[in-house]
Amino acid sequence: MTSVGKILRLALGAWAVVLLVALAAPVQAQQQPNSVNPTALSVKEQQLLQELNRIQGRVTIPDARSGVLEQPAGRDWRNFRDVTLRWVGGIAILGMLAALIIFYLTRGMVKIEGGRSGRTIVRFNAFERTVHWMTATCFIVLAISGLNITFGRPLLIPLIGLEAFSEWSQWAKYAHNYLSFPFTIGVIVIFLMWIGGNIPNKVDVEWIKRGGGLVGDDHPPANRFNAGQKFMYWVVVLGGGAVAVTGYLLMFPFYTSGIEGMQIAQVVHSIVAVLFVAAMIAHIYIGSIGMEGAFEAMGSGTVDVNWAKEHHSLWLEQQKARAAANDARSAAAAPAE
Ligand code: HEM
Repeated sequence: MTSVGKILRLALGAWAVVLLVALAAPVQAQQQPNSVNPTALSVKEQQLLQELNRIQGRVTIPDARSGVLEQPAGRDWRNFRDVTLRWVGGIAILGMLAALIIFYLTRGMVKIEGGRSGRTIVRFNAFERTVHWMTATCFIVLAISGLNITFGRPLLIPLIGLEAFSEWSQWAKYAHNYLSFPFTIGVIVIFLMWIGGNIPNKVDVEWIKRGGGLVGDDHPPANRFNAGQKFMYWVVVLGGGAVAVTGYLLMFPFYTSGIEGMQIAQVVHSIVAVLFVAAMIAHIYIGSIGMEGAFEAMGSGTVDVNWAKEHHSLWLEQQKARAAANDARSAAAAPAE
């Protein structure tokens, strides 16, 4: 009887142990995720990166390139985008603004020295002005939406919050993508319609030597475009060309290059773009508040003859000679009375 009792006690004890283990198991399983050590995982990732130089796996979607999770150049690129670019862009744009404010406060608006003559001459025709303003409007939207990509997060999120920032950034990105097309067309047309007047020559050397008339009240002779404008023209053509090509590489990823090529495209695109914006701020200044009588060239299309005499004397002479030749031709063609 005692041995039967012993066996029963043993069996009950064993049953109790099994029950306890079975009950404890789900609890342990539930605790499992909390017991994962995230640092231990990242240490493994770091080791992998050190040993293989990149973290890459296999993916089931058709594009096998998405299997690259980490690669060393990615860190350099991120550092460029988050740090270097912000410094270069900030210094170029704010530096240009500061320089122009100082220039305006010390030099003031460049006046028409001889005063207005009251006679005007056509400077840009309707087609030229339409192309200019179409390209300029696109450029301004592209510049604001592009700067939002670089500076928006640190500058705007604290001001307007995450939700408003993401809504605005989405529209800004649409604008940036779609306006790139008319902007590119504008740059190509500007290249073709004004190339004739923008080849550097020795008149430009003299103009530069005399400080372009910005210092003092000198008026060095200039053709239709002076050396400063020729510089701006080439900034638009070459800078616009560079941002367009690199922009399309980024807009259509992986068509022509791998991830490294796209990183280079982004670096070129963003650096050229911020310098381009700084240069255009100077252009906008001199085409508006910086010089009396300049804006109307692109506004109504005509300028005062005294303005033309002071800033584009050689061009004015050419226009007068052409007009005189036309008059003579039409007088000769007119029937004698
Ligand atoms: C609000 C913005 C702008 C204003 C007020 C402005 C004003 C002007 C004016 C007045 C001229 C004629 C200068 C002259 O008669 O000699 C001009 C020319 C020109 N503009 Fe603009 N512009 C603006 C934006 C832009 C932008 C964004 C671009 C290109 C992306 C651009 C490209 C050009 C080019 C290539 C010329 C001919 C070369 C030159 O005069 O520098 N402009 N602009």
